[in-house]
Amino acid sequence: MSCILVEGGKRLAGEVEIQGAKNSVLPILAATLLSRDTCVLRGCPHLRDVEASLEILRSLGCGAQWREGCLAVDTAPMDRTEISDALMREMRSSAIFLGAILSRCGQATLSYPGGCELGPRPIDLHLSGLRQMGAEIEEEGGVLRCRAARLRGCDVVLSFPSVGATENLMIAACGAEGVTRIVNAAREPEIADLQGFLRACGAEVSGAGSDCVTVAGGRPLHGCTYEIMPDRIAAATYLCAAASAGGEVRLTRAREEHLSAVTAALREAGCVIESDGGGITCRCGGRLRAVSPVRTAPYPGFPTDAQALLMAALLRSRGTTVFEENIFTSRYRHVDELSRMGGVIRVSGRVAVVTGTERLRGSRVRSTDLRGGAALCVAALAAEGTSEIRGLHHIDRGYEDLARDLRLLGAEAVRTDSGENQHESG
Ligand code: EPZ
Repeated sequence: MSCILVEGGKRLAGEVEIQGAKNSVLPILAATLLSRDTCVLRGCPHLRDVEASLEILRSLGCGAQWREGCLAVDTAPMDRTEISDALMREMRSSAIFLGAILSRCGQATLSYPGGCELGPRPIDLHLSGLRQMGAEIEEEGGVLRCRAARLRGCDVVLSFPSVGATENLMIAACGAEGVTRIVNAAREPEIADLQGFLRACGAEVSGAGSDCVTVAGGRPLHGCTYEIMPDRIAAATYLCAAASAGGEVRLTRAREEHLSAVTAALREAGCVIESDGGGITCRCGGRLRAVSPVRTAPYPGFPTDAQALLMAALLRSRGTTVFEENIFTSRYRHVDELSRMGGVIRVSGRVAVVTGTERLRGSRVRSTDLRGGAALCVAALAAEGTSEIRGLHHIDRGYEDLARDLRLLGAEAVRTDSGENQHESG
């Protein structure tokens, strides 16, 4: 059984380069289908979710291979429009391929993406937007059969600024006739990165980062070479690691403007954070202070993906911090595991109350989801003794090599791969 072993109690000192953003490269890989050409993605992270997306592209007839650290995707040979149930189940966010396949081929068949560890993951906003653009979508037995002779540009108002729905509709709109405006669009930095990629392919897209994205569709698109933005949640992970263990770390390529809600909370807790053109430096001295209530919200609010990470960093703080998880219905599954390490956390519905404690103890714990697993490693850095973190298949979805990066920051962290199937039980 694979696990990460962490020897806690050691202050951090080191530097790490932040990997490419998982939540940017996934929609961009889907968007490569918009042209019958080759796209080269630089700074693409080697992740399980990326490999799952490459499997989907290959199953559609495309070529995809790593070439000198870049990812080259050739979508010219695409000859299928159906994503298998097995591939859909491998990665919940595969729904992001729907707009691209429909836009290019006029039809698409895929199974309903299941829920995940965070709770149900509906795609009703994706489907209603595509229907407004003229798609006919039948849902039968868990399978979505979609047809659109020609998507038509229109105004789509999202009832919630869904990241995935915004991205799916941006991509679909590139192949639609006329102008599409996505109103109440998500404003996450990954939306701006997708806009940058689409523009590099020749698309006319504007407004990313605001609550209205406009796409003038129907333009012929071509391949491109594009650099993926740095992963702001990976950066938040390592900032929280320094906050948890104490010490001084430097994160190169990290961009503070992408995670200002996280750095604001860490500064309030007592960390000294400075950023320059090349990255972010974080210095954390003595025991942290508890911070004012942390309410997760769509960007630029506090990111739900950093909720578990900050919680782990505050387990030994002075005082009490209240968390309110407003994006997903089941995003406190890491709490029981953090409690095994000595964390004092009470959960009631969307609210979790963390009371700082003097000591954490190294324990055997198991990841429950991607960011929850990273949070266990963050807490282990501050625990006395050795912690063993299992369930690495969750962590491998979003981190190239979490143990390696923590070691680069000065932690005693090592991964023991017993070579067993990555789909470990549980
Ligand atoms: C993206 O998920 C990210 N995933 C998530 O990271 C991230 O937590 C989330 O955005 C919020 O920032 C990727 O980008 C691949 P949403 P997404 O659509 O697009 C509800 C990770 O593993 N909703 O903004 O699914 C939904 O149920 C993941 O790193 C609908 O009701 O997020 C959720 O409660 C975790 N109907 C809320 O909106 C819909 O049609 C936010 O979802 C779509 C979403």
